[in-house]
Amino acid sequence: MRGLKNKNVLVTGASSGIGQAIAVRFAAEGAHVAVNYYKGEEEAAKTIEQMRAASATAGISGLKDMTVQADVSKEEDVTAMFEQVISTFGGLDILINNAGMQIQGASHEIPIEKFDKMIDINMRGAFLCARQAIAHFLSHSQAGVIINDSSVHELIPRPQYVGYTMSKSGMRGMTRTLALEYARDNIRINSFAPGATLTPINPWKDDPQKKADIESRIPMGRSGTPEEMAAVAAFLASDDAAYITGQTLFVDGGLTLFPSFRTPWTG
Ligand code: BGC
Repeated sequence: MRGLKNKNVLVTGASSGIGQAIAVRFAAEGAHVAVNYYKGEEEAAKTIEQMRAASATAGISGLKDMTVQADVSKEEDVTAMFEQVISTFGGLDILINNAGMQIQGASHEIPIEKFDKMIDINMRGAFLCARQAIAHFLSHSQAGVIINDSSVHELIPRPQYVGYTMSKSGMRGMTRTLALEYARDNIRINSFAPGATLTPINPWKDDPQKKADIESRIPMGRSGTPEEMAAVAAFLASDDAAYITGQTLFVDGGLTLFPSFRTPWTG
């Protein structure tokens, strides 16, 4: 994809799942990638191994890479992470706000500490990182890109996941607001919204019965892969998406198409 070669990229939550696939994809595109993790130091090292293999396969050498520990919900961690990445790479062009978590439970019973934690990571964390990236782009009078890993649940209500849907619809508000605010500064901000994806956040991926049940509800009849999400993140960050800002691209096999209407039932 155009415009990703030699770009400096920070991917949050890149020690597993979609974040890991994004880091690998950017390395294959010839970008220098910083792999943020919170607890998974070993997994982050595996991401780096996969990145190196992917760039070698693509015939690219001399790429910089690094791991960087930070809890994205903590302001001091985020500041330190950006300082570390920018001083190691000599700059930053692209931020991928991917770190996130989800919890399930009847909304009237959710312990508030769990709710707070999810909002802190999914929404506050994404904003803290966006704020830091934008400040960097502006102070260097440079172009910049922010891509947010949202969810179909920024749109689709999801009972028992109220905090998660709130955090992702908040992310939609953030994407659109920041995109408008910084459009004249050559900073593009977009989201992609995965549907059911085969990553560790979805333990059902290893349960054939549950997986089949979930996939029967998806118009395309299957889950998405982390690589399919990474491809869209790469596209949105690339110059091929140069005129797109403030948008959410749904990558969901049709989940947002009101699947219950697939066969006529309204008469
Ligand atoms: C959630 C998954 C869920 C998918 C579709 C994602 O945002 O993280 O757990 O399977 O949306 O509902």
